[in-house]
Amino acid sequence: MTPGAPARWELTAPLSERQRDEVRDLLARTERRLGREAIDEGRRRVLVHAHPAEHWCLRDSAGHLRGYAMVTPGTPPVVEACGGGVDPALREALLARHGALHWWVRARRPPRGRVERTLEVRQRRLPLAVAVTWPADAVLRPFDPDRDVERWLTHNNQAFADHPEQGAWRADELRERLAEPWFDPAGFLVLDDGTAIRASCWTKVHDLATSPSRVGEIYAVSVDPRWRGRGLGRAMVVAGTAALLAHGVDTALLFVDRDNVVARELYASLGFDVVRTDVLVRLEASPRPGDPPST
Ligand SMILES: CC(C)(COP(=O)(O)OP(=O)(O)OC[C@H]1O[C@@H](n2cnc3c(N)ncnc32)[C@H](O)[C@@H]1OP(=O)(O)O)[C@@H](O)C(=O)NCCC(=O)NCCS
Repeated sequence: MTPGAPARWELTAPLSERQRDEVRDLLARTERRLGREAIDEGRRRVLVHAHPAEHWCLRDSAGHLRGYAMVTPGTPPVVEACGGGVDPALREALLARHGALHWWVRARRPPRGRVERTLEVRQRRLPLAVAVTWPADAVLRPFDPDRDVERWLTHNNQAFADHPEQGAWRADELRERLAEPWFDPAGFLVLDDGTAIRASCWTKVHDLATSPSRVGEIYAVSVDPRWRGRGLGRAMVVAGTAALLAHGVDTALLFVDRDNVVARELYASLGFDVVRTDVLVRLEASPRPGDPPST
């Protein structure tokens, strides 16, 4: 960019190692400012592991990185910008390229467009002192990467069969998460009845340096469809929060789809309050004069 030129968004793909470091640095600075994750954890993995994506960078006239957004493949492609906002210039550039987009907007007023999904971010202070009962014929234990990968995938994919992101995980996707620096088997609990995993609660301690409180996440909780409605979901969440507490976490956080009535009831009954709402909005390029009408 010539000195003095206005900042503008540019497609930078693939990112070099140095550019990747710049983006990570921008994410870290944004996280310190916001006190929360600057981009969805799955997209961060796309960045770190160089999975297929478009990387859009906003640089000032001195060449410093001022903004970043990722577009992942999909029909339509999915966008998330560092910090969770929508920059009008980026929106224009992306719509000119893709025609239609799904855009995650976090903690901001969403732009005009059809809301495709609404995620509630719910939170509560720990400890969570609720008495629960466990079945006598199953054992609660930490996930064991040597023997649980296939069994847990079977469990997870049945439990989340209707979920857009979590219902069809493959072994490589699970193994990638198991290799993340934040992974800790002590925070990944399974209820094992000897033949199958009956229920599971996976927790994740957030980077405690970026947040004013010590935040941990109920990352995924699930009960085998044949064993629902018997108190296992409640018991697993309580066990998950105990695991977080043991790691020094004082605030438990989770994401739940607004249309997941059962999970929302469960979390509300345990005192998890809505602290933020994220929306996935569909944006479309407006027809230009002379464009043929869409059919
Ligand atoms: C959400 C889930 C874990 C709940 O597990 P569960 O074992 O069926 O839940 P529990 O029996 O412990 O019930 C706990 C509370 O959930 C709510 N709940 C359970 N079944 C319900 C139903 N059919 N309708 C409305 N609320 C319901 C109630 O508040 C219930 O408390 P109560 O028994 O005092 O009324 C389970 O449905 C599941 O695995 N769903 C798919 C995966 C998923 O969506 N996970 C959450 C992602 S954020």
